[in-house]
Amino acid sequence: MIKKIIKQFVPKSWIIRYKMAKEHQRLKRDFRIDAKQYDSSFNYSPVGTSDEGVKELLIFHSHSIEKGLSHPNFRGNFGKNALLGIKANLSEFKKRNLDKNLFEYQNTISVLKFYKEKHNSKNIETPFFDSLFDLNEIDVAPSIAGAKVHTNKFSKNMNFVDLEYFRSTQREFSNDAVDMDVFKKVTELAVKTPSVCNRQPWKTYVTNDSSKISKLLDLQGGYKGYGVPPTLSLVTVDRRAFIGSHERNEPYVDGGLFLMNYDFALTYYGLSSCILNTMMEEPMKEEVRTILGVPASEVLIAFVGAGYSKDKVEIAASARKPIEDILKMV
Ligand SMILES: Cc1cc2nc3c(=O)[nH]c(=O)nc-3n(C[C@H](O)[C@H](O)[C@H](O)COP(=O)(O)O)c2cc1C
Repeated sequence: MIKKIIKQFVPKSWIIRYKMAKEHQRLKRDFRIDAKQYDSSFNYSPVGTSDEGVKELLIFHSHSIEKGLSHPNFRGNFGKNALLGIKANLSEFKKRNLDKNLFEYQNTISVLKFYKEKHNSKNIETPFFDSLFDLNEIDVAPSIAGAKVHTNKFSKNMNFVDLEYFRSTQREFSNDAVDMDVFKKVTELAVKTPSVCNRQPWKTYVTNDSSKISKLLDLQGGYKGYGVPPTLSLVTVDRRAFIGSHERNEPYVDGGLFLMNYDFALTYYGLSSCILNTMMEEPMKEEVRTILGVPASEVLIAFVGAGYSKDKVEIAASARKPIEDILKMV
């Protein structure tokens, strides 16, 4: 009743201004809650501060070693920081009496086993590694992790399951220049991605300018030691598509869905790819925006390096957790 009376006497523009001010307050409150929740769970210490934290740090450091094991220019005794990270979190894992059958433990000792075997096969001694780890513990590890050879025999007749198992992150490419028209076809497929209320808020910025790509990858920081990929795409999402504080995280959902389809579309059109995070500090992001002309209204979702495939390429195994760790029938 009171609302009706107010609506009769107060100009509409005032009501809109009031609603907007209220939404700004909500946004501040919700970000404070997000920050508090993130702050109380994220892994900020070098040794995990929760069981889950220890397990995820083991995966994080093991993957860093896996990348090195699949690197085209193998560097003996590489990855000292990651090995120290593994050592610290393995000790914590044991201190917490966690189950050694867990994927995270098995994957870690498997990576360590592969590290030792690869050095042995090249007759390289590993004094630093040997000082950290008990070789008897590693010896019994399953062969699930490390590096593996990927043969790029893609066929357009593959069904969804074949394509899902075929697609793998690749960080080496053939030297052939990419026909940039392929990105029109890739985008045509990727826009089939569903989005909230069909808003389709995504954009892509694609370049084959190697000096731009080098600068962007220097800022990105997660692709060190690899050659410059022939093309680099940046997927962004326009925040202007969203209404209200409750939608503040939706750009990342829609952007992530698009990104995966974009990556599959690249695979379908015969390109190999590596998705690259945009977890950079804000000044770096600003530089990325300047280089590619990305307005502040767009959030950066991820880069994708892509190029035509090499026939064979060594890749990180990136073993997956068992489905029992993921699927909860409730
Ligand atoms: C959002 C996202 C960000 C990633 N960022 C990087 C990165 O910065 N550097 C890198 O070498 N790989 C990066 N990757 C590739 C992952 O390491 C890879 O997808 C993961 O190990 C699984 O392997 P697979 O893609 O071969 O199945 C990223 C992947 C995703 C999805």
